[in-house]
Amino acid sequence: MKANIVLIGFMGAGKTAVGRQLSQRLNLKFADLDCLIEQKEKRQIAEIFSQEGEAYFRKIEKQMVKQVSQGQNQVIACGGGVVIEKENIENLKKAGALIYLRASPEVLFNRIKGQTHRPLLKVDDQRKKIDELLKFRAALYTQADYTIDTSNLSVEDVVSKILEIIK
Ligand code: S3P
Repeated sequence: MKANIVLIGFMGAGKTAVGRQLSQRLNLKFADLDCLIEQKEKRQIAEIFSQEGEAYFRKIEKQMVKQVSQGQNQVIACGGGVVIEKENIENLKKAGALIYLRASPEVLFNRIKGQTHRPLLKVDDQRKKIDELLKFRAALYTQADYTIDTSNLSVEDVVSKILEIIK
């Protein structure tokens, strides 16, 4: 197994829930990039976006990816937009196996609707926004080493699939 397992995918794909459980099953450290960014900045992601703007968040995200990628024996859960930066993908690929947790736009919407903590989805038409973002990002996510379609899977199912992949 490579030194780290890296989870990427759109908001609502289950990266944090799967990552936490996977890390427990494998007895690895769990590194949630958004959480680490919030700790570093001492404020929530939504506040970083509203107070500093998205470009600032992406800058901090890039620094955090670089830092965390140097560690070992971790499950790393990334924010949905991590793939926008080429340098992030390069660093994460060097760090370990990249797993894309995919889900259909409908499933993503159903998982996300009603949640209010994601700044990019604070819009009137969340369903449309998901399509817009996915149009640009879908191809970027496929740079992963493995893809798992989580649309009809529970967190436990996804964890089992990852365990099969990496064994
Ligand atoms: C973002 C996803 C979020 C968070 C930020 C931006 C994105 O993480 O990093 O709000 O650009 O898709 P989750 O995918 O964990 O919600």
